[in-house]
Amino acid sequence: MLRIDRLTFDAYGRRFLDDASVLIPDGAKVGLVGRKGAGKSTLFRLILGELSPSAGEIVLPRSGRVHVVAQEHAASPQPLLAAVLAADVERARLLAELDTAPPERLGEIHARLADIGADSAPSRAAVILTGLGFRHADLGRPLAEFSGGWRMRVALAAALFAEPDLLLLDEPTNYLDIEGALWLEAKLKRYPRTCIVISHDRELLNNAVDATVHLHDGKLDLYAGGYDAFERQRAERMRLQGAAREKQEAERARLQAFVDRFRAKASKAAQAQSRVKRLEKMAPVAAVLERNVAPIRLPSPERPLPPPLMRLDGVSVGYDGQPILRKLNLRLDPDDRIGLLGVNGRASRPSPSCSRAR
Ligand SMILES: Nc1ncnc2c1ncn2[C@@H]1O[C@H](COP(=O)(O)OP(=O)(O)O)[C@@H](O)[C@H]1O
Ligand SMILES: [Mg+2]
Repeated sequence: MLRIDRLTFDAYGRRFLDDASVLIPDGAKVGLVGRKGAGKSTLFRLILGELSPSAGEIVLPRSGRVHVVAQEHAASPQPLLAAVLAADVERARLLAELDTAPPERLGEIHARLADIGADSAPSRAAVILTGLGFRHADLGRPLAEFSGGWRMRVALAAALFAEPDLLLLDEPTNYLDIEGALWLEAKLKRYPRTCIVISHDRELLNNAVDATVHLHDGKLDLYAGGYDAFERQRAERMRLQGAAREKQEAERARLQAFVDRFRAKASKAAQAQSRVKRLEKMAPVAAVLERNVAPIRLPSPERPLPPPLMRLDGVSVGYDGQPILRKLNLRLDPDDRIGLLGVNGRASRPSPSCSRAR
């Protein structure tokens, strides 16, 4: 269980968390949502102990194995598969120990290696890497040969392979293509331990998580279900809160009117006094703070262009005289909505495909 208890955190001249509490049961898959800049990544750094709270505490799952994926793997000469295998520190330590251990210890080491499925580790790591879009031929290539986006996938693969008790993922689908995102969704759903994922990917949040934590105004609110369930429950909560507040305002006005009218009258003084007490005791219902986002306006052109907007006819494009895409045919018309699909960084292999919807 991850317990966040009355956590307050101030930094950079503002309050990120304000007496916030939440309990996350073992094995839960949780989506962490909130506005950009609300402090979601900051909360991860607090959980990791990289930042210290101003007040309150964070109690980690018992074994305390926490792993965050927020940064790409370093561009080292290490081969991909080895980098992922190294994330299972116990296996790496036992294997290293085999070289130097005294003979009487060897049986114990082999038994433990068998317990943790060390033999199947390379194939498990390979399944994860290929699920995230690497080819088998890539697995022996050094990390340094891959771009930042691909090394981010290696970091994600390493975390999934290590299976920490608490896995923290910060916007993992940002650097995945559709196939990678779908694979991750299925993988998270089956993840055997606790996972918190920060994401703006509604599909991921609807399909892979069973609870949602909303960070807003420094508080952490836990909702059952994925993103759509969260939105429904939140709308209902806000409606009830708004109604309760209106009711309370009316009651307050009624009591105040009585007090104002009868305070000076000796016969009614006791009753007025008791209403003053009731007024003082009323706990305010929090105002509903739904700050709307300003709409984005895209101006229409003064004079619409005649179709087609653009036509490609057997076009090749590339860099430094090297074509990357060849024989492209495409026509763009004013009402087109075009999705452009393709594997990341692999434009030289299959040509991207366009689907057209109207
Ligand atoms: N080094 C820093 N100096 C000043 N402000 C910072 C710094 N790091 C983070 N912040 C503040 O924290 C906010 C981002 O918090 P973050 O936890 O990344 O939000 P989220 O992940 O919810 O988008 C930024 O908007 C910024 O105001
Ligand atoms: Mg962030």
